[in-house]
Amino acid sequence: MNTEFKNVTWIDHPLVQHKVSLLRDENTSSKDFRQLVSEIATLMCFEATRDLPLKEVEVKTPVGMANTNIIAGRKLAVVPILRAGLGMVDGMVALIPGARIGHIGLYRDHETLQPVEYYCKLPHDIEERDVIIVDPMLATGGSAIDAVSQIKKRNPRSIKFMCIISAPEGIKAFIEAHPDVPVYTAAIDKCLNEHGYIVPGLGDAGDRIFGTL
Ligand code: PRP
Ligand code: URA
Repeated sequence: MNTEFKNVTWIDHPLVQHKVSLLRDENTSSKDFRQLVSEIATLMCFEATRDLPLKEVEVKTPVGMANTNIIAGRKLAVVPILRAGLGMVDGMVALIPGARIGHIGLYRDHETLQPVEYYCKLPHDIEERDVIIVDPMLATGGSAIDAVSQIKKRNPRSIKFMCIISAPEGIKAFIEAHPDVPVYTAAIDKCLNEHGYIVPGLGDAGDRIFGTL
């Protein structure tokens, strides 16, 4: 796996890698697939929030005063790319329950593989928020690039992009379009096939999450 892309973090934690392997298996049921996507999102969120700033506070324990750290009041927003990104939301808010949730509706045109926009609803105070966009798949990169471009127009504090499986072609296109946006991925696969699917990938993430195969 090429892990040398600039601004791309490969989440190589054994728990994540194990769960991604189960996710790829064509025999994994929709129920288990949904559960795994959510669990992987939680584990990846742990890594993607590693740089949140802390501030020192004083807390009275039953034994004495402790100088200890809390997150320094950063506001977060999680923005799933519909549909498949929805599968990652519960896993994210398990760790960051105060996050607001925006939604971006995009689907890939099957012929052109270009993203088609159909919905965008973001928190009204997005300018004060650090945004994490989530989508299990980064294939050609078109959907992720478009989602970031839409959100950039609303001037959030920062943007990160988190996906479970990516293709080298999509990573390269994304870095070229948005070199300032960090990417977190659990796998960088071999290539895309002639239909724009990631090889070996896991198939169509939306269909596997929602049982619409
Ligand atoms: C999938 C996936 C990404 C997109 C990735 O969504 O969830 O959003 O494809 O492909 P790209 O990098 O080439 O743009 P899809 O268009 O199948 O829509 P769905 O989630 O509604 O099924
Ligand atoms: N979207 C998916 O769901 N899977 C792929 O392999 C590519 C795009």
